[in-house]
Amino acid sequence: MELVDPDVRFHRSFLSAVEEFVAAGEARYAGLPVFGWGGVPGDEFPREAIQDPAGFAALVRVVVEAKKPFAARPAGYVPWTELWMADGDEYLGRITLRHELTDALLTWGGHIGYAVRPSARRRGHASAALAGMLEVAWRRGIDPVLVTCDVDNLGSRRVIEHAGGAFEDVREGKRRYWVPSRVPTDGG
Ligand SMILES: CC(C)(COP(=O)(O)OP(=O)(O)OC[C@H]1O[C@@H](n2cnc3c(N)ncnc32)[C@H](O)[C@@H]1OP(=O)(O)O)[C@@H](O)C(=O)NCCC(=O)NCCS
Repeated sequence: MELVDPDVRFHRSFLSAVEEFVAAGEARYAGLPVFGWGGVPGDEFPREAIQDPAGFAALVRVVVEAKKPFAARPAGYVPWTELWMADGDEYLGRITLRHELTDALLTWGGHIGYAVRPSARRRGHASAALAGMLEVAWRRGIDPVLVTCDVDNLGSRRVIEHAGGAFEDVREGKRRYWVPSRVPTDGG
């Protein structure tokens, strides 16, 4: 698994991953930005909109640009870095790092969110992706990093605890952990 920038070369694989998330009852993890967000004006990404290459390219552009401080984004959203988990041209999942904490992120959402497509789970991808994103956080001067999970999400809880997360408390059904960011393996 590699962590890579979102790219149009994943179109076919991304679409099949969306179908997997939907079939598993997990549409909210499918990686369709603006899915119920209230929308960036002019940018809506329901499943139908990304079937054609131009629609998918628009989605890729939004998530690549999201790291830029002045990019268009829904109200209340802070800039974030989004990377995709990949094996060649196969899309395996996504991980995002929010660059700042709002009150809602501090209580509930945390800095980092991730999702692995159902067919690629239990192979260590989320753990590896979190390790990689903790290096990105270090480069951005974010340390420690807040990562949260639903109290009943055992898989995510293990991912966070393996990364060295220090449990703080439970707020609004979320277990909250502070995870040390990581010095990049190339020394930064
Ligand atoms: C949670 C999720 C990200 C885990 O991804 P993954 O790639 O399967 O995780 P890993 O393979 O790195 O597993 C890490 C550990 O969790 C364990 N684990 C993974 N899924 C598990 C599950 N459903 N139940 C119990 N343990 C689980 C693994 O066995 C492993 O533990 P071990 O190293 O002690 O053996 C994935 O199930 C997912 O995308 N779920 C839906 C989205 C989601 O919940 N995102 C997190 C929001 S906070």
